[in-house]
Amino acid sequence: MDVTRGRCAFPRIRYGGEMKLITLALAALPLISLPLLSSATKPVAPRAASPTGQEPASEAPRRAVLVTGASSGIGRRTAEYLAENEFFVYAGARKDADLAELDALENVQGIRLDVTKPDQIAAAVKTVREAGRGLHGLINNAGVFVLAPLAEVTEEDLHFQMNVNVYGPYRVTKAFADLLIESQGRVSTTGSISGHATWGLGGPYTMSKHAVEAYTDVLALELEPLGVKVSIVEPGNFRSQIFQSTVERLQARGYTAEGSRYEAQLKGFLARDQSRSDAADPLPVAKAFLDAMTSETPKRRYMVTPNQREADLTLGAALKRIAELNQDQPFSVSRADLHSALDSALDRALDRALDAVGR
Ligand SMILES: NC(=O)c1ccc[n+]([C@@H]2O[C@H](COP(=O)([O-])OP(=O)(O)OC[C@H]3O[C@@H](n4cnc5c(N)ncnc54)[C@H](OP(=O)(O)O)[C@@H]3O)[C@@H](O)[C@H]2O)c1
Repeated sequence: MDVTRGRCAFPRIRYGGEMKLITLALAALPLISLPLLSSATKPVAPRAASPTGQEPASEAPRRAVLVTGASSGIGRRTAEYLAENEFFVYAGARKDADLAELDALENVQGIRLDVTKPDQIAAAVKTVREAGRGLHGLINNAGVFVLAPLAEVTEEDLHFQMNVNVYGPYRVTKAFADLLIESQGRVSTTGSISGHATWGLGGPYTMSKHAVEAYTDVLALELEPLGVKVSIVEPGNFRSQIFQSTVERLQARGYTAEGSRYEAQLKGFLARDQSRSDAADPLPVAKAFLDAMTSETPKRRYMVTPNQREADLTLGAALKRIAELNQDQPFSVSRADLHSALDSALDRALDRALDAVGR
C-alpha cells in the first residue's frame, strides 16, 4: 500500500471544496408532557427465574452505568441494550416526557441531566451516590449538530456546539470521576467518524468530534493509571434525531440561509427530509458500548459503521493525514520506514485484539 501517493486500498476521498452532507435519521418526537420526576432511587427489578425454574444461587448485583442523552437515537438504544444486559442504567434526559418514558423501562432510571447545566450534573452525582450502587460506567453520549460554514458560523452557535459535545463530556466526567475511580470503572464517549473525516458545512461538528478524540486519549493517560478504562465509540450514520433537531432549531429562529456564500447547499439541507427513518438501527453502536463497559481489555477506539464505505472513508481520512504529515517535511521518515511503522502499529493492535479474546 502506497500511502504517500494515495495508491492505498481505500478509495480516495476528496475534501475541501466537496460539500458532503451525511444525513442521519430521526426517532419519533415525544408528544406528551408528563409531571416532573423525582430523583428518588428506583428499585432493581428482580431477574427472571432460570429455565429450570430455580433462582440462581448467588446473584451479583447489577452494576450501574450512566448514559447521557438517552432520550433518542444512539443513547436510547444503548440505555435499553445495557439494561437488557445485566446493567442498571441511569438514563440522562432533559424533557419530562422522555424521563417518564425511560423511567418506565425495567432497570432504567431516568435522570434529569442537561450536560451544560452544572446544577443538574451535581444533582445527578448526588442521586447516584445516594443510591449506593456506585457507578461502574459513564457513557458521554449527548450531542448536537450545528450546520454552518466556518467562515460564517456565529460564535454563539460554535459555543453551543462545543458546549454540548466537548464541554459536556468534560463536565460530566469530571463530576463523576471520584465514583468511577472508586469502582475502578470505565468512561466511554460517543465520538464519530467525523472525528477523523471532515466535510463541508459540518465544520463545528467535526471540530467537536475531533476534540473528543484528543480528550479520550489524554483522559486515558490520566485515568487509566487510577484504574479507570477509557474508550471512544465512533459511529457512522445511524438512525437518530440529530439532523431533524438541527433543522428544527434553525427553523425556530427563522433561519433561511439567505445571503450565505453556501446558500444553495444550506437550503438543500433544510429542504430535505432529515428524518431518515431508513438509516441503520444503532444496535451495533450499543453493542460496542456494552463491550467498552464489560471487556477486560476494551478497545481505545470502536469504529462502528453501518457499511464498508463509511469505514473506508474514515480510514482513508486518517491515512491521508499521516501521508501529509510525512510529505516534504523538514523531518520525516522514508516510505519503507512508514510502511514498517504502520505494520508495527497493526501488529500491536492485533496483539491487543488477541489478548482480548484470550488468544
Ligand atoms: N446518529 C449518528 O449517525 C451519529 C453518528 C456519529 C456520532 N453520533 C453521536 O451520537 C450521539 C447521540 O446522537 P444521536 O445521533 O443519537 O442523536 P439524537 O437522537 O438527537 O440524540 C441526541 C441526544 O443528546 C441529547 N442532548 C442534546 N443536547 C443535550 C444537552 N445539552 N444535555 C444533555 N443531553 C442533550 C438529546 O436530548 P434531547 O432529546 O433533550 O434534545 C438526545 O438525547 C451524539 O454525540 C452524536 O454526535 C451520532
